[in-house]
Amino acid sequence: MGRIEEALRKAKVSRGVEVNETAPQALNDHAKPRAVSDTTPLDLRKSKIPSGHVFHADKAMLREQRIIAASEHDERVGSYRQLRTLLLKTMRDNDWSTLAITSAHKGAGKSVTSTNLAISLSRDVNTTVLLVDLDLNTPTVHEKLGLKAEQGLVDFLEGNAELEDIVFDPGIDGLMVLAGRSAGKEMSELLASPKLQQLVADLHRQDATSVTIFDLPPLLRNDDAILFAPYADAVLVVVEDGVTTEKQLRHALQLLDKANVIGTIINKARY
Ligand SMILES: Nc1ncnc2c1ncn2[C@@H]1O[C@H](COP(=O)(O)OP(=O)(O)O)[C@@H](O)[C@H]1O
Ligand SMILES: [Mg+2]
Repeated sequence: MGRIEEALRKAKVSRGVEVNETAPQALNDHAKPRAVSDTTPLDLRKSKIPSGHVFHADKAMLREQRIIAASEHDERVGSYRQLRTLLLKTMRDNDWSTLAITSAHKGAGKSVTSTNLAISLSRDVNTTVLLVDLDLNTPTVHEKLGLKAEQGLVDFLEGNAELEDIVFDPGIDGLMVLAGRSAGKEMSELLASPKLQQLVADLHRQDATSVTIFDLPPLLRNDDAILFAPYADAVLVVVEDGVTTEKQLRHALQLLDKANVIGTIINKARY
């Protein structure tokens, strides 16, 4: 299995494409679309999660799915820890609370990275993390964490489920998950829906979780990730070593011109 070669690289990725040298300021309030909520505040606490949605992460299953950040004896955990430390500092310094993870194409490792990073962040005692599976066409976070999700974000966004129907406790301290389920059909434009904008605005205003990670679809599939990315305080782009081409990465970064891209992660690096 490959390793994360370089986390949150701030200057250049290996193929010479420039990304932001330092984390830029959050987009100003005019540029950043934020809905105003007049609904009751979100109350996302583990104690409120229905018992049927509380799971106990099986270590062997997690390892099989390459979810290793909770493991004590895996040297690869260090890469996620390093990434977590850099991220927490950048996010706290800038008062950011939401982070989106995307890539040019599918299979680069967005969901493995989002999930490991969410676990790594949640192991910081002061950080409570919400991991949101926004890859509506191919949600996999629930599989990677062994969650049995009958309903998911698609149902919530279509108005057929409440938040408490799709929130899960994966049995990892400090981590909650808003799960997806396979829709079985091509979903589009739901990531630009007012309901999701409202949810993001509500997540910004609530105190129970300090960091929200959005696992997005790939950028070159359809408009979904492009439309959603500007709503996150910061965006990380996963590059699959030896697979993502320079052309794909340049294109992906261009598509994110309205988003606050703070870096790239090189995944599946082979030494
Ligand atoms: N660092 C890694 N090393 C080896 N395999 C990985 C790594 N990251 C992801 N994978 C594997 O690559 C495949 C795609 O990963 P996934 O995170 O589901 O991609 P995406 O969400 O970008 O489509 C999965 O089989 C996953 O286990
Ligand atoms: Mg995925």
